[in-house]
Amino acid sequence: MSEPGDIADAALALLSPTAPVRDLEGVRVVVSAGPTREYLDPVRFISNPSSGKMGFAVAEEARDRGADVTLVTGPVNLPDPVGMRVVRIESALELRDAVVEAAHAAGIVVMTAAVADYRAATQSGEKQAKVAGDVTVHLTPNPDILAQLGQEKGDRVLVGFAMETHAGVERAALKAQRKNADFILLNYPTREGTAFGGDDNQVTLVRPDGSHEDWPRVSKREVARRLLDEAARRLPGRVTPPPPH
Ligand code: C5P
Repeated sequence: MSEPGDIADAALALLSPTAPVRDLEGVRVVVSAGPTREYLDPVRFISNPSSGKMGFAVAEEARDRGADVTLVTGPVNLPDPVGMRVVRIESALELRDAVVEAAHAAGIVVMTAAVADYRAATQSGEKQAKVAGDVTVHLTPNPDILAQLGQEKGDRVLVGFAMETHAGVERAALKAQRKNADFILLNYPTREGTAFGGDDNQVTLVRPDGSHEDWPRVSKREVARRLLDEAARRLPGRVTPPPPH
């Protein structure tokens, strides 16, 4: 059973005059969040500093709008949000298996996870001893989960994130085309206040045709709200945009 405090929070959220519209009632939403860890041996891994905050914000916003949410997350310092299925994974291969399974009946998939591009070609079952001199690590590419989902897209709305330091819009549009995503939210890791781990984000929505919208710097929850507004509009049978918040 959920903690009493969580139940009280959920009840208060429902009664609040600013309760979100329940425009995702009956829609399955899958969100990936956080980094992956690619182990070289039992105690060493390749990873990145993704905090998971953006993905958790998307999952919580979707839940509050009535969606049936599965959150697949890499190792992050955030507790499981209530009111959704949470799957904890470590590696990109585990992330792929969990996302692909959950995505079968999903209407919206949001790939917020910072998936490691490579994993060790061979993972040692024993801690590797230190040796004198340089060491070479052989890496092999991880599967591209968003591109895999894009190959059998159907009616699903697919959303990605991309981090670029230059030529962001062009590169993000090419990624959206290549991965068959409906749109990509482009982050700038070098911009103040929007780096890994912050509570705010400043993103540009980029469509496969290169058209784009710069959104202002806002909280990650507000980015999540706008993202889901855009995704909900693309669900089959939805013709009118949701009312403004
Ligand atoms: O790393 P990249 O810039 O290509 O990431 C763009 C999008 O693709 C992100 O949404 C990310 O979660 C997703 N991705 C993926 N599988 C990978 C790499 C990235 O699903 N192996």
